[in-house]
Amino acid sequence: MENRFWRIARRPEGIDFASALALEAAPLAPLAEGEIRIRNSHLSMDAGTRMWLTDREDGYQPPLPLGIAMTGLVLGEVIESHAEGFAPGDLVRAFGQWADISTVDAVMSGALLLDPSVADRRAWFGPLGMNGWTALWGVEQTGAARPGEKVLVSAAAGATGILAVQIARLLGCEAWGIAGGGAKCAYLRQELGIAGAIDYKAGNVGAQLDAAGGFDVYFDNVGGPLLDQVLTRMNHYGRVAVCGLLADYTSGTRTAPRAFDQVLMRRLRIEGFFSPDFMHHGPALTERLRAWTEAGDLVMPYDVTRGLEHTLTAYAKLFTGANIGKVIVELDA
Ligand SMILES: NC(=O)c1ccc[n+]([C@@H]2O[C@H](COP(=O)([O-])OP(=O)(O)OC[C@H]3O[C@@H](n4cnc5c(N)ncnc54)[C@H](OP(=O)(O)O)[C@@H]3O)[C@@H](O)[C@H]2O)c1
Repeated sequence: MENRFWRIARRPEGIDFASALALEAAPLAPLAEGEIRIRNSHLSMDAGTRMWLTDREDGYQPPLPLGIAMTGLVLGEVIESHAEGFAPGDLVRAFGQWADISTVDAVMSGALLLDPSVADRRAWFGPLGMNGWTALWGVEQTGAARPGEKVLVSAAAGATGILAVQIARLLGCEAWGIAGGGAKCAYLRQELGIAGAIDYKAGNVGAQLDAAGGFDVYFDNVGGPLLDQVLTRMNHYGRVAVCGLLADYTSGTRTAPRAFDQVLMRRLRIEGFFSPDFMHHGPALTERLRAWTEAGDLVMPYDVTRGLEHTLTAYAKLFTGANIGKVIVELDA
């Protein structure tokens, strides 16, 4: 059987993904012991995967080699299994391939059996997925947000940020977001009802932050110059939970805060966190996220693109800011 997949032909420059990734087709190899075959119904677009496409060796995981299929989170039904615990028809999420069909080692890919009774399966990429786990962990554990504290989240209208602001509020905090553009800020304020939103594309970010007052927790998805602006507006003993560095992903820059002295002046704690490190807490995190989702307290807008051939258009949205909420590619499964 022929399988279409996105092959990494070369390292992308900026957001020129079309020159780097090529849609190709090849016959499926026989399944090895321990492997499962998944017919992908959805692909998750995740900004962090942009780092895997660079050649930097000092990231939190080695670069993806050239010539292989692009790796990413996929959702779909098992169509063939040589792995214990997985059978055809099972709904699973795994680190698979940007392809019609993913072939993965069940253990190495983190393949997870999913409850098919969840009405909207896209939630397994959103509130019940890595974004949900990351948002909850980052606010509660790394950020150590306490009720009544002020929590600021960057990239607040994206998949991870949108959950982080809502979770901060659910934990009794005053939630603030930073996002690009009036429409996103209006969404955060009016639809999600958070305390306030700072439009970093409108200019005068410092004045907007000053008007908001000091922050106890900064859930940072961006890094770059924005981090400097926030460091000088943190309250004493504040915490900066470093989730991602979007300012660096497509530009090749490295975040190096000029206002690092504020760590001492304000007695701040800065700590990075990475979802594979707390994967074993996944079931407990999912249980809480599911309860909030089913009660209607945690919502996620989805930005859905149809068709494997349009994957790169969907992916670019993460870096141009065209999305509100979770970017997903839906396939004809
Ligand atoms: N540590 C972990 O384990 C972990 C796990 C999952 C995700 N993450 C991180 O979470 C962050 C969000 O990822 P996601 O997949 O959920 O994507 P996303 O937030 O859905 O999309 C990215 C958003 O970031 C904003 N953005 C892009 N470039 C920017 C820049 N240079 N400066 C400021 N904002 C920028 C854009 O919105 P605007 O219109 O607001 O610019 C865009 O919509 C990433 O940093 C990612 O690495 C970390």
